[in-house]
Amino acid sequence: MKTYLNLTAFIIVLFGGIAFLDSCKKEESSEAKISHHNGNESHNMGQACMNCHKQGGSGESIFNVAATVYDTTMNSVFPNTTVRLYTGANGSGTLKYTIEVDAKGNFYTTESIDFTNGLYPAVTGTQGTKYMSSSITTGNCASCHGNTTNKIWTK
Ligand code: HEC
Ligand code: HEC
Repeated sequence: MKTYLNLTAFIIVLFGGIAFLDSCKKEESSEAKISHHNGNESHNMGQACMNCHKQGGSGESIFNVAATVYDTTMNSVFPNTTVRLYTGANGSGTLKYTIEVDAKGNFYTTESIDFTNGLYPAVTGTQGTKYMSSSITTGNCASCHGNTTNKIWTK
C-alpha cells in the first residue's frame, strides 16, 4: 500500500514537473526578440530578412521590422546605429518605436508594430539622422531598400 502511495506521489511530481517545464518553454518563445547595440546574433546582412523570418518561413522568429543599415559609402554596414519610427515626418509627431541596430548593422524586432496610420523611419548614426520623407506600412524595409531604392544608410 505504501509503495503505491509513493508511486502515485512520484507520478504526480513527475507530471507536475513536466507541465512546469513546458510552461517555461512557452514563455520563452513568446518573448520579444529585439536587436540591441553590440548584439551579435544576426546574419545575412543586406538580405530581405522577412523572406525567411515570416510565418511558416525557415527563420523561427517572425520579424515585424528588420533590415540592415549602411554607412555613407553604402558598401559597409553601419553597426550600433538606431532606427526610430515616428507618427510624423522628420521626427515630428510621436516617437512610437526605437530599435537599436546590432554589431552587424542589422536591426529586427518581433514586437507587434501598429502601422495603421503609417510610420516615418529615421536612422541615427554617429554624425546625424537621415529621415525618410514618406511613411511606411510595412517593416520589411528591404522590400524597397536595396531593391527599388538605395540601401538604408545614415551618417
Ligand atoms: C535565407 C533565410 C534567412 C534570411 C534571409 C535571414 N535569416 Fe535570420 N535566420 C534564418 C534561420 C534558418 C535561422 C536559424 C533558426 C532560427 O533561430 O530562427 C535564423 C536565425 C536568426 C537569428 C537568431 C535566432 C533568432 O531567431 O533570433 C537572428 C537574430 C536573425 N536570424 C536575424 C536575421 C536578420 C536581421 C536578417 C536580415 C538582415 C535575417 N535574419 C535574414 C534564416 C534567415
Ligand atoms: C515602400 C518602400 C519603402 C519601405 C518599405 C521603406 N522605405 Fe525608406 N525610403 C523609400 C524611398 C522611396 C525613399 C526615398 C524617398 C523618401 O525619403 O521618402 C526612402 C528613404 C529612406 C531614408 C532616407 C534616405 C536618404 O537618402 O535621405 C531612410 C533613412 C529610410 N528610407 C529608412 C527606412 C527604414 C528604416 C525602413 C524600414 C523600417 C524603410 N525605410 C522602409 C522607400 C521605402
